[in-house]
Amino acid sequence: MEYVWAEEGRIKFLVPATDPHHPFPPGSAPVFYNPRMELARDATVLLSKVLPVSRYLDAMGATGVRGLRIAKECEVPVTINDRDPQAADLIRRNSEILGVPVEVVSSDANCLLSGRVFETVDIDPFGSPAPFIDSALKGCGRFLFVTATDTAPLCGAHRNAGIRRYFAIALNNEYHAETGLRILLGFIAREAARYDRGIEPLFSYAREHYCRVHLRLLRGARMADRSLSMMGYVLQCPSCIFRTHTTGILPSHEECPYCRNALVPVGPLWTGPLHDRNLLDRLHESISSSGFRLGGELRKLVDTCRNELDIPHHYDYHGLARYFHISPPPIDDVIHSLKSRGYEASRAHFSGTAVKTIAPHSVLREALTRNRS
Ligand SMILES: C[S@@+](CC[C@H](N)C(=O)[O-])C[C@H]1O[C@@H](n2cnc3c(N)ncnc32)[C@H](O)[C@@H]1O
Ligand SMILES: [Zn+2]
Repeated sequence: MEYVWAEEGRIKFLVPATDPHHPFPPGSAPVFYNPRMELARDATVLLSKVLPVSRYLDAMGATGVRGLRIAKECEVPVTINDRDPQAADLIRRNSEILGVPVEVVSSDANCLLSGRVFETVDIDPFGSPAPFIDSALKGCGRFLFVTATDTAPLCGAHRNAGIRRYFAIALNNEYHAETGLRILLGFIAREAARYDRGIEPLFSYAREHYCRVHLRLLRGARMADRSLSMMGYVLQCPSCIFRTHTTGILPSHEECPYCRNALVPVGPLWTGPLHDRNLLDRLHESISSSGFRLGGELRKLVDTCRNELDIPHHYDYHGLARYFHISPPPIDDVIHSLKSRGYEASRAHFSGTAVKTIAPHSVLREALTRNRS
């Protein structure tokens, strides 16, 4: 294997050389490293400092970058695992270079997590994390961090795969990134409830090609029941922009109040909060001293997340403009205008054109209409 140096946060480490002509260069190397996930790793490192975590398992390490950064930047005991012996060798070599004493294991993540318990467990597989959630819950004491890169099944593009992996139906529409993230959270909540455990989302976001969730696990049947009470469905009208949500195990049969069509249920999914706002405030404060190369981008993400409304769907500003045949004022003016009409409204991190509100259509139309006076 030919190696090159990479640098992230406070570490410099070896990664395999990639073929720049490959359609997805990280996929051309024997051990996986995607520099485009740096921001996701920055977020996890900072969150782990703020919580703080005290014992961390990187269950799918590849080069080990995630776990090595936690070991170096958070100064807590870390175990890094990868089933692939070549990856485990590289993790060992990188930890020696850095002089950080991490435990390196080369096992199947499901076997490792069925036999040992770690305070914090991080699952970062290729594609869907669904086959790892049961054992991750068994092997997790307190904090569970999960990445999903199988956005097609989560977002309704591959309907049957979504049903197989998450037992949920997604709709491939303009807010699919949000429903995908919530389907993943809902799946974890249902898996946890079987063990009388509840979940509390701390910082959950969807970005580019992936979803990332950071959760606190809570013990006891009451906590599990409380989590399950957040399960429900987004209900979407098939012919107009109306959408709403409902909680409960079964979707309710409702009509669109505007066009009387039967609403289509999306889910089951998590309808509760995506973040712990106090924690995001602390995360926000700690970004400036982090020295992260992508600190500005992370600040923007955290800032948008802590200000977004707790409703499980959103509109797209351009979609609204098309629907009402209006050339609207800037998005911030639309949000301001909704608020001045007495309706809560916010941006959302899912895209630069996402708008969260439950304002009725007449108010949406007024807010989108440019004030020409
Ligand atoms: C997406 S990569 C991890 C990337 C890494 N966490 C990072 O931030 O760069 C997924 C890794 O999981 C490993 N893997 C896949 N299935 C596994 C399993 N069942 N148990 C343990 N490791 C597994 C692969 O060998 C691969 O190195
Ligand atoms: Zn309708």
